[in-house]
Amino acid sequence: LPKCPRMVSPAIALAFLPLLLTVIIRYRFYFVLFYRAILIRIWKDCVTGLTREERAFQYVLTHATPGDPESILEAFDEWCSKVEFISNIGPKKGKILDRLLLEQRPLTVLELGTHCGYSTIRIARALPLGARLYSVEMDQRNAAIAEKIIRLAGFDDDTVELIVNPSDEVIPRLRSDYGLERLDFVFMDHWKKCYRPDLELLEGCGLLGKGSMIVADNVLFPGAPKFLRYIRKCGLYEWKIHRATLEYSRGIRDGMAELVYQGIK
Ligand SMILES: C[S@@+](CC[C@H](N)C(=O)[O-])C[C@H]1O[C@@H](n2cnc3c(N)ncnc32)[C@H](O)[C@@H]1O
Repeated sequence: LPKCPRMVSPAIALAFLPLLLTVIIRYRFYFVLFYRAILIRIWKDCVTGLTREERAFQYVLTHATPGDPESILEAFDEWCSKVEFISNIGPKKGKILDRLLLEQRPLTVLELGTHCGYSTIRIARALPLGARLYSVEMDQRNAAIAEKIIRLAGFDDDTVELIVNPSDEVIPRLRSDYGLERLDFVFMDHWKKCYRPDLELLEGCGLLGKGSMIVADNVLFPGAPKFLRYIRKCGLYEWKIHRATLEYSRGIRDGMAELVYQGIK
């Protein structure tokens, strides 16, 4: 006889049903908003034949001034807060990032997760003269938009280099292919499950030195619990969380982690 697929016993399923219903009823507002947003997005993708990143890009192209990073950021913020959400770091958490960069004045910076280039521009405009930013993006379509946005803002290849590949392939090659010895500042804003393995890769490749700063976005929402557990336990960092709200939202609590590498124990 063919083997029956393993099924949850009806008794267990029934026991969990009240819990499931309570969660759905308690958070129905968020469920409705979430599915409504997905349906609207699918509908817009079909009607326009563009991704939401490409729609945002078109708005920025027609509303921002070339060579003026500030006006590009403003155009993005306007589009994302009034028309369609995309996961830029946004103006509120962006200001925290600006402040940390101005305090740190890093010469070599790595960004993981370029997306459309919003945070890339924010970082690039805060850098001191002669500094260089390496920004890593694995999605070809997003990277194509980011490249245009970065150049539209007026940053050339000497200031911002975009690397199109997954972070776990790029980090081990930063020394050999890009001649990097030490990173002064790392901004992590890619998939949250990559935060911890990529941080360990950076440590393992010897790219962090005493005083190197790592800033990681969205550690509370959607959240990076494994990353937070690791930095609490490993004892290699002084760290704190900057509390904020999720980009372009008021009610959803989020936070950015600021880590300062203390060197090998
Ligand atoms: C939240 S968005 C980044 C937003 C951007 N930092 C900003 O504030 O403007 C995340 C981006 O990271 C990229 N990404 C996710 N995992 C990655 C990885 N392992 N390597 C490179 N890029 C990655 C995704 O394709 C996506 O474009």
